[in-house]
Amino acid sequence: MALDIDVLTLFPEMFAGPLSHSIIGRARNQGIVQISLWNIRDFTLDKHRIVDDTPYGGGPGMVMKPDVLARALDFIRLDNSGPVIYLTPQGQTLAQSAASKLAAKSQLILLCGHYEGIDERFRALYVDIEMSIGDYVLTGGELPAMVLIDTVARLLTGVLGAEDSATEDSFSNGLLEHPHYTRPRVFREMEVPSVLLSGHHGQIQRWRLKESLRRTLERRPDLLDSQPLSKDVHELLEDVKQEDCKERTKGGLVEQ
Ligand code: ADE
Repeated sequence: MALDIDVLTLFPEMFAGPLSHSIIGRARNQGIVQISLWNIRDFTLDKHRIVDDTPYGGGPGMVMKPDVLARALDFIRLDNSGPVIYLTPQGQTLAQSAASKLAAKSQLILLCGHYEGIDERFRALYVDIEMSIGDYVLTGGELPAMVLIDTVARLLTGVLGAEDSATEDSFSNGLLEHPHYTRPRVFREMEVPSVLLSGHHGQIQRWRLKESLRRTLERRPDLLDSQPLSKDVHELLEDVKQEDCKERTKGGLVEQ
């Protein structure tokens, strides 16, 4: 199913590079994802094409005007009935689970904020979802919108080939992905793990799951706490913990 995305922005030119190349560029050419960029300034009615104004009550910065935003949205709504997603550091942090939900929709509208943000009345009346890409502040919502588009578009059927399917991605099963190796077999005296050369599919799968658990345990133990593990996986995780414990004892890292 194709996904239509309309983006409201003050800087449509910013999107050209990231969304025209590689996998997303190809998905657009194939019509799997359609991205329309709209310049908010084109929806002003005044001679100076003003999109923002000073905040009531005083203070620094400018606020994007609700009347201009509403005119832009009314126009986009003629062809797009999807949720309005406002990119803001105050939104819910983008995670793979939210990206999967958005990838199941057929239409989305993204609003990129600038300056101090948008007038609260527009937010209250028209914004359905507020989304952040992390706990830091960018100069505007354009880069976050591109991150969101990339994350969602690569999940659409036909965007990734079988060879780089999203099903084994980090986070898609709640774990970080296992390490990868390619030729040469020996690099700077480091060998590829022998199981990967064995041709034994079952053992390779088990090794990958185990290394995926090891990585998650080392880097993101919070992910392990937030999901139920099957008995098999739980046992494998216990093996990993024991191995790591032995390794640390051997290396003298554990105080006696
Ligand atoms: N706009 C500015 N910073 C942002 C962030 N971290 N996420 C989404 N939109 C933003």
